[in-house]
Amino acid sequence: MSISDTDLAFEVRPTDTPTPRAERESLLATPKFGTVFTDHMARASWTQGLGWHDRRVEKYGPLQLDPATAVLHYAQEIFEGLKAYRHDDGSVWTFRPTANAERMQRSARRLALPELPTEDFLASITALVRTDLDWVPSGEETSLYLRPFMYASEAFLGVRPSMQAEYLVIASPVGSYFAGGVKPVSIWVSEDYARAGAGGTGAAKCGGNYAASLLPQQEAYARGCEQVCFLDASTGSLLEELGGMNVFVVGADGSVSTPRLSGSILEGVTRSSILTLLAEQGREIRERDIPLTELLAGLRDGSVAEVLACGTAAVVTPIGRLAGGDFDVTVGDGTAGAVTTGIRAALTDIQYGRAADPHGWMHRLA
Ligand code: COI
Repeated sequence: MSISDTDLAFEVRPTDTPTPRAERESLLATPKFGTVFTDHMARASWTQGLGWHDRRVEKYGPLQLDPATAVLHYAQEIFEGLKAYRHDDGSVWTFRPTANAERMQRSARRLALPELPTEDFLASITALVRTDLDWVPSGEETSLYLRPFMYASEAFLGVRPSMQAEYLVIASPVGSYFAGGVKPVSIWVSEDYARAGAGGTGAAKCGGNYAASLLPQQEAYARGCEQVCFLDASTGSLLEELGGMNVFVVGADGSVSTPRLSGSILEGVTRSSILTLLAEQGREIRERDIPLTELLAGLRDGSVAEVLACGTAAVVTPIGRLAGGDFDVTVGDGTAGAVTTGIRAALTDIQYGRAADPHGWMHRLA
C-alpha cells in the first residue's frame, strides 16, 4: 500500500527543542521496551455534537488533566499497538495498520467511546512517523513502537459515557519486549484470577483488562515466571491468553491450535497473521477450546512439541516452561522449537522487507 493524500491530514507543529542528534543516537543504540519516547505526539480531540477536530502533531509532553476527568475514575480508555520498521533502503513501513484501526473502532464501541475513522488513524501514525523519522531505529529486530490510545476527557463524575475524548499516538523506539531477548519464557497459569468473563471487555483492547492482569502477573514473577496465562472465567479449564499476548500450541504431528475467539480473547493482529502463514505451510490449523489438562497431558506424553506466545510487542516468543499450583512442566527440551523460530522468521522477514509480501500487509509510511 502506498502513501495517499489522507495520510497528510494532521497539522504538524514542530517542537522548538528537539532532542540533540548525539543524545537521540545514544537512546536508539539499545532501546528498552517502552522507556524512551520521540519528540512529538499525534493528537485529535472529540466533542459530542462536533465530532473529531484539532488533528495535529505537537511536542511530546505531559497532559494536564482535571482531577475529575472521567478516565481517572471509570477507566473509559482504549489503546492499540503497532510498529514502524525501517527497511534496508531506508524506507519505513508498518504492518496491517487497517486491522489496528478497525480493532480500535470495535474497542471504542465496547467502551462507549467515539470511533476514530480509519483514515484518521492512518493519517495520525503517518504524520507522527514522518515528523519523528530519525527516531525509527535501524538495528536488527528494532522498530518504532506506536501506541495509539483514546481516553474519556470530560471532567464529570456521573457514570455515563464521556461527552469529550482525546486520541493520541506516542512512539517509542524498541528492541525485544522481554529483557532476555528472544529466548524461551516461562508461564504461570493463573487458576485463582480470570482476565475477562463472558459479556465483559476481554475482546476490547482497553486498559482495564491489563489492570486486571497485573496482580496475577505479580504472582507469576513471584513464581519465577515472566508471564501469566489466563483460563476462561466460566469453567476455569480452557486456555485463553497471556497478560498481553495470544498463545499457540504446536503438536508433534505439526498441527497448530490456538484458543478460538470466545468473546473474551483479544483478536491479535499477529495471531491472525501467523494463522495465515502457518496454514500456507500446509499445517492443520485449529481455532478451538484447549483444555489445560489436555495441554499438560500432551506436554508429558510428547504429543505437544511447542508452545508459543505472540503479539505486536512480543512478536513470536517461545514458551519453555508452564507452571501452576500443582504442576511445573518443561516444553520439549525447554529451547525454542523449529515451528516457533520458523514462523517468527517468516513474519519478521515480511515486516523488515526481507521477503515478499503476497498479502499486501505492509503499508509504507515514509
Ligand atoms: C502489544 O503487543 O502491542 C500489546 O499491546 C501488548 C502489551 C505491550 C500491552
